[in-house]
Amino acid sequence: MKRDITPTSVEKVMREDDFIVSMTDKTGRITYGNRIFIEFSGYSEDELIGTQHNIIRHPDMPRAVFNLLWSKISNREECFAYVKNMAKDGSFYWVFTNVTPTFDPSGNITGYFSVRRKPKASGVKTASEVYRLMLEAEKKSRAGECHRSFHQNSGQHFE
Ligand SMILES: Cc1cc2nc3c(=O)[nH]c(=O)nc-3n(C[C@H](O)[C@H](O)[C@H](O)COP(=O)(O)O)c2cc1C
Repeated sequence: MKRDITPTSVEKVMREDDFIVSMTDKTGRITYGNRIFIEFSGYSEDELIGTQHNIIRHPDMPRAVFNLLWSKISNREECFAYVKNMAKDGSFYWVFTNVTPTFDPSGNITGYFSVRRKPKASGVKTASEVYRLMLEAEKKSRAGECHRSFHQNSGQHFE
């Protein structure tokens, strides 16, 4: 469940030796989070376990990044990405993440596993700019869809 949290401009920066680890079931519901995940997300273990991983989704993140992530991991591949996350208090923290599927002995996917480390400042700079442009394009295309659907539903001509 995503919460109604107002993002702030307060940044939390990962330390050099930190690893943020979490595991989910096949639907993205959190089944495990390590101490550093609890610390950075600002949620208690009880709040995190059983909750969808989008609980820490930041509104600055484009949808396409997560579409790519899910298409890769559900296709048994691993995925690396720069991700801006939002903590319970609205602050943000950047991570460089690796997400992989986990398998049972027969090779069926049982869930997903993610390890994140402190990202390179140059990577964050590039990702922020690229994600900003992607988000803008996504907003425009959604506005276009709403506009089109309004005209179609109201029986007006749409050019
Ligand atoms: C193992 C794993 C770790 C994930 N870690 C994050 C994360 O740190 N931040 C995040 O916003 N989404 C993460 N996701 C993706 C979320 O499940 C979700 O797709 C994303 O937050 C977008 O949410 P939405 O599709 O509901 O908008 C992770 C997914 C998996 C399977």
